[in-house]
Amino acid sequence: MTQNKPVTIAPAEGKLAILTPGMGAVATTFYAGVEAVKLGIAKPIGSYTQMGKIRLGKRTEKRYSLVKDLVPLTSLENIVFGGWDIFPDSAYEAASHAQVLEKSLLEQLKEPLSKIKPMPAVFDREFVKRIDGPNVKKGKTKMDLADQLRADIRNFMKTNGCSRAVMVWCASTEVYTPPTATHKDIKSFEEGLRNNDPAIPPSQIYTYAAIMERVPYANGSPNVSVETAALQQLAEEMGVPICGSDFKTGQTLMKTIVAPGLRNRQLGVAGWYSTNILGNRDGEVLDDPGSFKSKEVSKTGVLNEIFSKEHYPDLYSDVCHVVRINYYPPRGDNKEGWDNIDIFGWLGYPMQIKINFLCRDSILAAPIVLDLALFMDLASRAKMRGLQEWLSFYLKAPVIKPGLPVEHDLSVQLLKLENTLRFFTNEELINHLGLTYYGVDERDAVV
Ligand SMILES: NC(=O)c1ccc[n+]([C@@H]2O[C@H](COP(=O)([O-])OP(=O)(O)OC[C@H]3O[C@@H](n4cnc5c(N)ncnc54)[C@H](O)[C@@H]3O)[C@@H](O)[C@H]2O)c1
Repeated sequence: MTQNKPVTIAPAEGKLAILTPGMGAVATTFYAGVEAVKLGIAKPIGSYTQMGKIRLGKRTEKRYSLVKDLVPLTSLENIVFGGWDIFPDSAYEAASHAQVLEKSLLEQLKEPLSKIKPMPAVFDREFVKRIDGPNVKKGKTKMDLADQLRADIRNFMKTNGCSRAVMVWCASTEVYTPPTATHKDIKSFEEGLRNNDPAIPPSQIYTYAAIMERVPYANGSPNVSVETAALQQLAEEMGVPICGSDFKTGQTLMKTIVAPGLRNRQLGVAGWYSTNILGNRDGEVLDDPGSFKSKEVSKTGVLNEIFSKEHYPDLYSDVCHVVRINYYPPRGDNKEGWDNIDIFGWLGYPMQIKINFLCRDSILAAPIVLDLALFMDLASRAKMRGLQEWLSFYLKAPVIKPGLPVEHDLSVQLLKLENTLRFFTNEELINHLGLTYYGVDERDAVV
């Protein structure tokens, strides 16, 4: 059975600019990884767009396709990287500073990485307190700064011969700034840009500039940007896909694997204590309470929503959830996360689970940047607009249509992603009911 109305997807012709506000550990590990894959010296491990396989049709058909063979994605050869940063270092220098990748690997990638130089950033220390740098734009108003970013996007695309662009926020986590009346609609937001409203952080200026240039925008941090009504309306109006927020890596990835499993087996949870040590620049920024607040909101929301008190009062009415991030320089990018989970089972008997994840932050984040960029470009060519819930798979705090409950379960998020790809290609959507294999007509079964 196929869909009635096939989706038309414009071909991935020409070059795609992937623009990252922020050229730190995550962004440079992403650029370097793609260059290494292009050279054939590494494999794109962790990237669903490059390595993922999807089943098509009935199980008996035994039809599986690489994701990149099913949907028309931009090939790695056709990607051009660009970005903005408050430090003028090239991607090679920034990657050397970040110390995520070995020197010997970086040396092999020196030529392409040295060519990627950051454009001057839109930056405001009010929103990121722990760092400062010289490569910063000047403008009388926030609207002037947005106009400069728009000019950067156009110039970059022209100079590099790109037919399309996407923007993925990879800059530092800003201080938590909940939406105000300025964010109510497009008109009030644009007034705020012209009047230098202090409630508009740099990340929202980048988002605005991207959408105005019809460039899809993905938010990799917990900063408030695609969360605002004004920017969501603008994306709808301009016909631009947006998604956010906060790359789902490390501890939260584990939470969205383990927590739905506990809930699905009706096991209760009394408490979940999560602590991390990390020593990269991200850790330094998160040492500021304002920036940490943004992370705390995105990290704690996950368990509250998976362990719904409303639906399971006997299991989750009193979960004590604590999240700590400790800046510990000797660890660099090699984060260590500890989780202690106090659970209870049959007749209320208590048990404990301990997870000790020695991970590498940017190694986990880099393939997410690639996949989000390629899928956002695909969404744009498929004429999708506004919030892209099907990409929740990659995000800690998925931003979805107001009023809808958020789905955090990683495997459900994958089903949604896979079915969206099947929908794009007019393949049968798979609901895993599987009764047809036993001679039952599924339509009769669901009626
Ligand atoms: N690594 C992970 O696992 C992970 C997971 C989820 C989210 N994130 C988020 O991704 C972001 C990047 O992480 P990272 O480890 O690369 O951090 P990083 O500190 O190494 O890099 C961030 C870069 O952004 C630059 N910057 C800050 N404000 C800017 C602005 N307004 N415009 C342009 N550049 C700006 C900084 O100078 C720095 O070079 C952080 O916000 C982090 O919270 C990372």
